[in-house]
Amino acid sequence: MCGIFGYSGEKECNDLIFEGLKRLEYRGYDSWGIAILNGKIHQYKNIGEIKYDKMLQKLQKGNIGIGHTRWATHGGVTKINAHPHISEVGGFTLVQNGIVENFNELKSSLLKKDVHFVSETDTEVIVRLIELELLKNKSLRQAIITVFKKLKGRNTIALLSNNDKKIYAVRNGSPLVLGIATDGIYIASDTLSFSPATNEAVLLDDFDMVEIGGKNISIFNIESNQFKPVKIKKLKHQFNKIDKGNFKHFMLKEIVDQKETILFATKYLRKELLPLTDSIKKGGRVYVIGAGTAGFSAGQIAYFLRNIANIDAQEVKSYEFEQYISIVKKKDILIAISQSGETADTIEAIEAFKKKGCKIASLVNMYGTTISRLSDFEFYTNSGPEICVASTKVFTAQCAWGYLLTMTLDNRFEEGKKNLSILTKSISQIFLKSRLENIKRVANKLKNKEHAFILGKGENSYIALEGALKIKEISYKHVEGFAAGELKHGVIALIEKGTPVLSIIPSENSRDFNDMISAVEQVKARGALTVGIGNDKSSKREIFDFYINVSQVENVSSIANVIPFQLISYYLSVALGNNIDKPRNLAKSVTVK
Ligand code: F6R
Repeated sequence: MCGIFGYSGEKECNDLIFEGLKRLEYRGYDSWGIAILNGKIHQYKNIGEIKYDKMLQKLQKGNIGIGHTRWATHGGVTKINAHPHISEVGGFTLVQNGIVENFNELKSSLLKKDVHFVSETDTEVIVRLIELELLKNKSLRQAIITVFKKLKGRNTIALLSNNDKKIYAVRNGSPLVLGIATDGIYIASDTLSFSPATNEAVLLDDFDMVEIGGKNISIFNIESNQFKPVKIKKLKHQFNKIDKGNFKHFMLKEIVDQKETILFATKYLRKELLPLTDSIKKGGRVYVIGAGTAGFSAGQIAYFLRNIANIDAQEVKSYEFEQYISIVKKKDILIAISQSGETADTIEAIEAFKKKGCKIASLVNMYGTTISRLSDFEFYTNSGPEICVASTKVFTAQCAWGYLLTMTLDNRFEEGKKNLSILTKSISQIFLKSRLENIKRVANKLKNKEHAFILGKGENSYIALEGALKIKEISYKHVEGFAAGELKHGVIALIEKGTPVLSIIPSENSRDFNDMISAVEQVKARGALTVGIGNDKSSKREIFDFYINVSQVENVSSIANVIPFQLISYYLSVALGNNIDKPRNLAKSVTVK
């Protein structure tokens, strides 16, 4: 969702801000804008894709400026509603990330004072409130502090002042970090956007107000009313290039990256996992939380913990934590799963578990993010940037890390590592040309269907849910995943001649094999088009119209079983001509509730 990027320093920053916004694109946006200071504020705003046009080329050059990607919340997708929003009084312009929850109340009180609005946004309310404070002869600093304290919700703002030649920014909830480079200071919603320039970052806390003038920074916490030392953190990783290589879309590149990323997520040494496993052994129940795809990997991790290491583990959707919070005890442990590390629903759940006194562990892909910083035990999937909005490589990385954690708890760390390396080899086979052609054939079969169903059981029940989400997100087809046992209790009513049913078939010695086969027999008897995903040496191969071969590695092949669904989603959506990397209505980083 909305992204903020700014720069102050020695370099001419128009292109830097443009490139920074491009690197924030993955978060999802529908309009964007840039403001540059040079004598006065010069602004450019547009809707749609971030690209150069004549007007942007003509924008006055300068070495201090801010930019923004907007994901519409209040008011439609128009140039007027795009940020930055410029003031009429006080010579400043402002961008915001978040939602002003008391927007209606604040706006009606301003309307009563005859304040005039240009846009429909909640952001403009902040601008007008600051103007009123300035008219009371307050300094800009004081005006920002007074107004910020009036805002309800998770809001982060950045403001470019012509009078002071400074950037002011205040963070609350929505992410904001500083990048410290030799040439100047970067300010952005994530560390990825300035990663080609520096891996030295200052991670701001809620209510930190930063003032950047030239290359100087000061940080003042408006809640504690105190200046803070500028603590620079060296981030482990720096990404110079984000590109698709020879792939047409980031999604396909990221699916193929899975040949390696499972190993990156599980390169942890036993001793690095021990502080968490010791706490789990001594603690109470383990809650594993996440939302969307991360919610399904949370389910898969809890499955591993229960079924391999006999741990009392319960998955909870981040946005449903309130259902459980009354029974949560101090000795319980929370494991939060998130690609972005900034998902508002997950942050809110973590804060509630923290209040209960629980220890928090997290598994995050992006460095320097809020979720890692709220955690007692920080882990990373180390998958590299995931740019396609639909998560692929990070899902399998999350599950693989959960498997290694489980095997460590079961005192089988080495065996876990060995199985993950066998799994990685088996994943490489999925990308053989002949196998990809087979998957494409299945994708083409779905092209003219309105509905499809995915069945899984036990170790594959979360994989079925994630497989369905993946296809829905990009193809916009109605694909439902469910546990095979559910079929006879209702869903079978939907099966008619030609309905595609894709079933994940575990190895023949699995306790779930017979149940899965009997579910397939039942849908086949009603005319379904049957597709199997699993080892094609299965003795029941003949009941399937199509079969996608995935070698089964004991206890862990569920992780590989999701990849055919990712590929079906990709090939189907390419055939439908959809926007692969930025599907409609979706944002990669869901920083608002
Ligand atoms: C789906 C997808 C989303 C995210 C969800 C949580 O492909 O990417 O469902 O999984 O919004 O995001 P993170 O993992 O950043 O917490």
